Amino acid sequence: MSIIEGLYARRAIRNFDHREVEQEKIERLLEVATLAPNDRMREPWSFYVIRGEAKEKYEQVVYEYLQERFPTKPKLIEGSMKSIKQTPVLLIVTSDIASTEEDTKDNEYATCCAIHSMWLAAQELNLGFVWRTRGVGLVHDKRSYEFIGAPEGKKIIGTICLGYPDADHLNDQKEKKRTSFQEKTVWL
Ligand SMILES: Cc1cc2nc3c(=O)[nH]c(=O)nc-3n(C[C@H](O)[C@H](O)[C@H](O)COP(=O)(O)O)c2cc1C
Repeated sequence: MSIIEGLYARRAIRNFDHREVEQEKIERLLEVATLAPNDRMREPWSFYVIRGEAKEKYEQVVYEYLQERFPTKPKLIEGSMKSIKQTPVLLIVTSDIASTEEDTKDNEYATCCAIHSMWLAAQELNLGFVWRTRGVGLVHDKRSYEFIGAPEGKKIIGTICLGYPDADHLNDQKEKKRTSFQEKTVWL
């Protein structure tokens, strides 16, 4: 698959089957992430891999967060918990906070590039991938920071859900829709 074909085919995959993700495949994704472009080679990204016992602990953190955030929505909590429990691996990705606002922003852009590289590579490795910031992604809550050991000077950019795609959900996926580039482009 060419890069352009990969970009057309890439999808957010939120449902996974029970297969474990091989260590080599996780390492491969992390390695390609580090190839991303980044300003002045600051390489601002860090990755926290959550699986096994750590994932069980993370599920508890997510549950407490959801209960607090959505006290009147038990169905939403149930659905979100089901989704997180059937996700084999989670990655929390952070970006370094720099000494200036500009460099901090550039670091975030570079980290976003790294996440997108992983997303495309996951597809080639037959893995499903979604970048989450809300709900079970928990990116904007202090509990996420505590969970990864409250590293100083790092901002969480996303939580990645990773696993082998559930075949039934893949077949049910809606068509990928986008506004045409013509509507988004000004030729000056
Ligand atoms: C920065 C960012 C945050 C996202 N946060 C969430 C999220 O919290 N929950 C979720 O289900 N999907 C999330 N997504 C995935 C998008 O919903 C998904 O990419 C979008 O619906 C387009 O679908 P596609 O990726 O299959 O083309 C996020 C994507 C990005 C880039």
